[in-house]
Amino acid sequence: MKTVLITGAGGNLGAACALHFAAKGWQVLAFVSPGKIPSTTLAHVRYVEADLLDEQNTSAVIEKLTGEFPVIDMAILTVGGFEAGGIDKADRAALRRMYALNFETAYHVARPLFTRMNQQVGGGRIVFIGARPALDASAGKGLVAYGLSKSLLFKLADYLNAGSDKVRSQVVVFNALDTPQNRKSMPKADRSTWVTPEAVAARLEIVVGENRNDAVIEVA
Ligand SMILES: NC(=O)c1ccc[n+]([C@@H]2O[C@H](COP(=O)([O-])OP(=O)(O)OC[C@H]3O[C@@H](n4cnc5c(N)ncnc54)[C@H](OP(=O)(O)O)[C@@H]3O)[C@@H](O)[C@H]2O)c1
Repeated sequence: MKTVLITGAGGNLGAACALHFAAKGWQVLAFVSPGKIPSTTLAHVRYVEADLLDEQNTSAVIEKLTGEFPVIDMAILTVGGFEAGGIDKADRAALRRMYALNFETAYHVARPLFTRMNQQVGGGRIVFIGARPALDASAGKGLVAYGLSKSLLFKLADYLNAGSDKVRSQVVVFNALDTPQNRKSMPKADRSTWVTPEAVAARLEIVVGENRNDAVIEVA
C-alpha cells in the first residue's frame, strides 16, 4: 500500500484528496490544524494534527511518523489562503500573511519530506498548489500578495527538481474551486471554468498513475 501525506485535509481540496486516495487504496496521512481531528473515522486515513506555520512542530510531527510509516511516497500540500488586492493593498502585513499561509506552510512540510524521500528507495513526489495569478500577470496585478506568495512555490519546485532525480516536485494550477465558500462569496460568477475539488483529486491520481512528470499540472 502506498502512502500519501495530505495537508489541509480538513479543507475543501485536502478533504477531497484524502477521500479519493483512500478510496483508491492509498494509506492517507491527513494533516489537519491542531484541535481539528474529525470525530468520524475513515478506512486508510490517519488524521494528524500539526500547525504548519510552526516549523519545529511540523518537523517533529513528520519525524514521529517515520517509525510507523518509513516510506511516504507522495505529498499533496493544499494549505493556503486568499487575499484580494492590487499593489495598493499589498502592504508588508498583507505580504507576510500570504507568504506565511501559502509558502511557509508548504515549505515546512516539503523540506523534511524532500530529504527523506531523496533517501528512500523509489524516491517520491511532492505536489504544491499554485495559482494562475502567479503565472499570469494580467490576473496577478489585482492579487499581488496572493500571487507573489504562490509564485514562490513554482520556484521551490524548480529548485527541488534541480536537486534530485529521485523526488519529483509539481505544481497544480486551476482557476477556482467549486466550493460552498466560493458559491457564497461570488454568487454571480461564471462557474463554467470552476473545477470541483473531487475533479482535482482525480486528476492528481491520474498524473501519479501515469508517472507523469509535468512541472505544472493544469486542471482548469
Ligand atoms: N478555493 C479556490 O477557489 C482556490 C483557487 C486557486 C487555488 N486555491 C488553493 O487551493 C488550496 C486549497 O484551497 P481550499 O479551498 O481547499 O482551502 P480551504 O478549504 O481553506 O482549506 C485550507 C485548509 O488549510 C488548513 N490550515 C490553515 N492554516 C493551517 C496551519 N497553520 N496548519 C495546518 N493547517 C492549516 C485549514 O484548516 P483550519 O481552517 O481548520 O485551520 C483548512 O482546512 C489552497 O492552497 C488555495 O490557495 C484555491
